[in-house]
Amino acid sequence: MKRTKIAEVLTKEPIGQEVTVMGWVRAFRNNQFIALNDGSCARHLQVVVNPEQLGEQTLSRIKFGAAIGAVGRVVESQGKGQRIEVEAREVTIYGDCDLEKYPLQPKKLSLEYLREHAHLRFRTNTFGAVFRVRHALAYAVHQFFHERGFFYLHTPIITASDAEGAGEMFRVTTLPLDNVPRTPDGQVDYKQDFFGRPTNLTVSGQLEAELGALALGEVYTFGPTFRAENSNTTRHLAEFWMIEPEVAFADLEDNANLAEAMLQYVCRYALEHCPEDLQLLEERLLEEEKVKPQDQRSPMPLREKIRFVVDNRFERLTYTEAIEILKNSPPNKKGKFQFPIERWGADLQSEHERYLVEKHFQKPVILTNYPAAIKAFYMRLDDPKEGVPGPTVAAMDILFPGIGEIVGGSQREERLDVLLQKMRDMNIPEDELYWFLDTRRFGTCPHAGFGLGFERLVQFVTGMSNIRDVIAFPRYPGNAEF
Ligand code: 4AD
Ligand code: MG
Repeated sequence: MKRTKIAEVLTKEPIGQEVTVMGWVRAFRNNQFIALNDGSCARHLQVVVNPEQLGEQTLSRIKFGAAIGAVGRVVESQGKGQRIEVEAREVTIYGDCDLEKYPLQPKKLSLEYLREHAHLRFRTNTFGAVFRVRHALAYAVHQFFHERGFFYLHTPIITASDAEGAGEMFRVTTLPLDNVPRTPDGQVDYKQDFFGRPTNLTVSGQLEAELGALALGEVYTFGPTFRAENSNTTRHLAEFWMIEPEVAFADLEDNANLAEAMLQYVCRYALEHCPEDLQLLEERLLEEEKVKPQDQRSPMPLREKIRFVVDNRFERLTYTEAIEILKNSPPNKKGKFQFPIERWGADLQSEHERYLVEKHFQKPVILTNYPAAIKAFYMRLDDPKEGVPGPTVAAMDILFPGIGEIVGGSQREERLDVLLQKMRDMNIPEDELYWFLDTRRFGTCPHAGFGLGFERLVQFVTGMSNIRDVIAFPRYPGNAEF
């Protein structure tokens, strides 16, 4: 079917030319003016029909939600609100929409309601914008790495390892749950399972990305990851997309530089390529925040906030320095933190991260050199440092305003003996990870990488407060609809 996309008609304004447009009716006024949207952009195209010429039969079918096509000439609009419009000489109805039964209605619907109708929410202005911006960010991620000579590596979705060592995995099996085969000593007999061993959905592509990096130099993954953690928050999904670059001959500082450059690059890309969608989302956010108390509103409008990230260096400090700031902070002294900061070694909660980013520094923060005990086994052990009470690792978390942790990464432990000791201490099975250890046995080198939670990035750029509203079909405890 030959058609011109509405985005093209609205940007090129081919006055005098005939076009064929197709889309869904967003409004129909005075039996004459159709607001048509085909998803190619935020704006609607005004299609003007002649009621006499069309006839009752067709007119009565032009309704909110109906799919139609129109053929006509592009002319300058006489009315307000649009520069051009299409004078339809022919209208085709592709799909009727019965408003009595249609879950969407031509009025403001809550995000909660739309989440329950996620199969149709793409058709709203807000979600149209969110998913176009999401696409632009994904594209920008690939462009960023491609320009720098990274190779896109597809790591497995089904794995036999737990990359984070946190045990939050979804089991993958074809064994019959109602009649599980057992070994003589009563254990589940995984030898009879599809892969002949226990397997799960991956929590991270990092370990495989490390294998790639130690040969290809610079690689990244961008794929779905799965976490069976029972977190019902606005920042957690059970299925989310993660971008994980891994770089050979790189240390923690290189890693922080790469992450900062990448975040700035993709944010700049969105500002440049999605101005209308971001404007729409900015207005939506202002509207949403009107009812909130002043201290819960964003300090900057959406686009200014994105611009701020692009234009300013991120604050870098160590965990140990952050603990000092937090210890002496007014909320800690006044007992306002739910988890008071008393000692070095405590894991940071989101209230602490938010204090650092939103109150103390008021900009993105890169926190480094966390206590070894609260981080994953693969992170590189730091040399002891004066003034630091315990062993630390070359870890880094990037904290964003309104989001908290958006990136987690580290320089990797490349020394075989140190890594083996760490794995023993943390009960990470050595034999299962022999392949990972082989990179340390043969031609090991300093290397580093990180993971960026793609949905948290989309949240930051779109200003959507719930992570369930930036992925098409969110998976979270108790929900796998659609
Ligand atoms: O900090 P995480 O767990 O780090 C890793 O998985 C490393 N293997 C990454 C690496 O070094 N290659 O996760 C990385 C990021 C977090 O900072 C967060 O943005 C996101 O992934 N993330 C989640 N996003 C949505 N829902 C969840 N349940 C998430 N868990 C982590
Ligand atoms: Mg993390």
